[in-house]
Amino acid sequence: MSNVDLNSKIPNNVDLAQDKRLLRALEQWQPNYIDWWKEMGPEGFQEKDVWLRTAISVDAEGWAHFDYVKMPDYRWGIFLADPVQDRKIGFGDVMGEDAWQVVPGEHRNTLRRLIVTQGDTEPASVEQQRLLGTSAPSLYDLRNLFQVNVEEGRHLWAMVYLLHSQFGRDGREEAEELLARRSGNPDKPRILGAFNAPIENWLDFFMFTMFTDRDGKYQLLALAESGFDPLARTTRFMLTEEAHHMFVGETGVERVVQRTVELMQQAPEGDVTKLGGVPLSLIQKHLNLWFSLSLDLFGGEISSNAASYFAAGLKGRANEDKYEDHKALGTTYRMAVPKDGAVAEEDVPLRNAMNEVLRDQYVADCQRGVDRWNKHLEKAGMSERLVLPAKQFHRHIGLYAGMPFDPQGRLLTREEWDRRQGEWIPNAQDRAYVQSLQGCVKEPGQIANWLARPARGIKGLPFEYEYVRFD
Ligand SMILES: [Fe+2]
Ligand SMILES: [Fe+2]
Repeated sequence: MSNVDLNSKIPNNVDLAQDKRLLRALEQWQPNYIDWWKEMGPEGFQEKDVWLRTAISVDAEGWAHFDYVKMPDYRWGIFLADPVQDRKIGFGDVMGEDAWQVVPGEHRNTLRRLIVTQGDTEPASVEQQRLLGTSAPSLYDLRNLFQVNVEEGRHLWAMVYLLHSQFGRDGREEAEELLARRSGNPDKPRILGAFNAPIENWLDFFMFTMFTDRDGKYQLLALAESGFDPLARTTRFMLTEEAHHMFVGETGVERVVQRTVELMQQAPEGDVTKLGGVPLSLIQKHLNLWFSLSLDLFGGEISSNAASYFAAGLKGRANEDKYEDHKALGTTYRMAVPKDGAVAEEDVPLRNAMNEVLRDQYVADCQRGVDRWNKHLEKAGMSERLVLPAKQFHRHIGLYAGMPFDPQGRLLTREEWDRRQGEWIPNAQDRAYVQSLQGCVKEPGQIANWLARPARGIKGLPFEYEYVRFD
């Protein structure tokens, strides 16, 4: 078991006190981080007491502490999953060799890039969500938003620890840059597209935590296999926290669906807008938007970069041990590719298809969530269903980038796409309607009309608990 130090300036289980230079560097970065948090973290809530969990160890039995805390005082720490004795690399050309404890020179730039790209998403999402607190549908949801936000902050710490401890001066410069980019800022945007799209309302937030955080889960699972052991251990522990973020998204959308079904049964002609609900068609449009944006995050379908990451033992598949063949040589992966104005199947060398392999694992996981939402429609005897759009729909990266596919996967003319896209992704009118439903619910036990109550509260507490104190 690793040694946990909770009392020093930076709580950690990596023996920071033993490495004075590293400790000093991180302690210099810390005030810049707090400044960033105060500037770009949740607007209007920095002085409020919030019932939050804080990571205090990596013990499966109990790794978190729950209490009221003001967010700028949150104890952001550095926690790596315990090392596996004599860990070997589990895939690629280097399979069976000892995992690296120090970044190998020949992979230094690539690993730095992978870490920075992952790290950049963490503060980006906090920035995207910074105004949401002012329109929370309940104190329970408000607290969940802040829980997600502080943990994304901790994930930034996790990546910055790797940069500072393994990449010297370059790493320190990258750590500064992570605090300098801004989501949606045209001059210094965040690195990945989906992390520059604004999250304007709570439907967006639930969709983001369902679909975009789930992309994060699959990226982390792939990095958790890495031959670079500090990265593998860091990401393994991040996954523990990430599970809650996806719970917030999956159950959040589920509660919207649940409430919509209730209102459909009461509303004249089933028109829930008469009763202040979110129509199913709007839920579907938001799903289409965030699912397609998140698919882009996996990168190109056929990728020589993905092949070389796998070959070099830098990035594996999610749950690599579930596969029998860890070399992935001499085999192919069947995928859909655009061909002569339609979509055709093609066999691609497996290593070059690794992005698509990960994306397909992700899609199956998303489908499971959608099936769960549809149970509410089924139970109410309704014929409508929510569906994942085709993978070709509304893509900006990869083989389908910019091609006008509809959600059923039919290739349209550019003209038809331009004319009809508002049927499939939220248009200005839709946005205005969803916005009109948003309003801050501050009373414990109360909830906005468009959302169902959760099945239970946090950590054994009731839904009525005062999760955020307003006075
Ligand atoms: Fe994260
Ligand atoms: Fe997350």
